[in-house]
Amino acid sequence: MAKKFTFAIIVGSVRHNRQGIKVARWLETVAKTRGHDIEFVDPRETPLAFLDKMHKEYKSDVPKNMERIHEQLEKADGFILVTPEYNHSISGVMKNLLDHFQKEYFFKPAGIVGYSVGDFGGVRAVEQIRLIAVELGMTPTPIALPISKVEEVFSESGDLTNQSYAKRVDRFFDGLEWYTEALLTQRLKGTPY
Ligand SMILES: Cc1cc2nc3c(=O)[nH]c(=O)nc-3n(C[C@H](O)[C@H](O)[C@H](O)COP(=O)(O)O)c2cc1C
Repeated sequence: MAKKFTFAIIVGSVRHNRQGIKVARWLETVAKTRGHDIEFVDPRETPLAFLDKMHKEYKSDVPKNMERIHEQLEKADGFILVTPEYNHSISGVMKNLLDHFQKEYFFKPAGIVGYSVGDFGGVRAVEQIRLIAVELGMTPTPIALPISKVEEVFSESGDLTNQSYAKRVDRFFDGLEWYTEALLTQRLKGTPY
């Protein structure tokens, strides 16, 4: 069994009937089953305004939700980015949330999960968020988890109904855990910046 880590799951949709919450809650369950702790970052619960000042630019009076998310990201050994595909890219809400922070991400891995109602599982958003994650100082893991026809993969109550994803999610976590341990080991020795 891999070591126990803390992962921040970041939800990329705030739509009232979003599919993404089912994906994110399922990932939370799988992660907990594997022994990990989860910081659940849901911008519907802790919304941020469009970017004015980044968290690091505040000297005092940091907006409450921004401080809360900062603490969640700080605690995390790694990230699970759950992104929908909106017009062949990631959602504005995901980009806005990510842009507020910086050092919180440095030298930590990111597992990327994309989803869409179509056949391609949000792969165009997955590829784009991979580039963004690199710029933010994360190390995206090679094995992403694209979920196609997301409406058919979970029941209304959020249970997994397409069991082919049970195997895929294990492979996704196997990779994420490996990178998390590797990067944590190195971070404990110090970082170049
Ligand atoms: C603004 C918008 C743009 C979309 N663009 C795409 C797209 O480019 N490709 C795709 O496969 N699905 C697209 N969809 C359909 C989404 O895959 C589907 O609505 C999905 O459930 C969105 O995630 P959410 O429900 O968690 O917000 C789009 C949906 C919205 C609302």
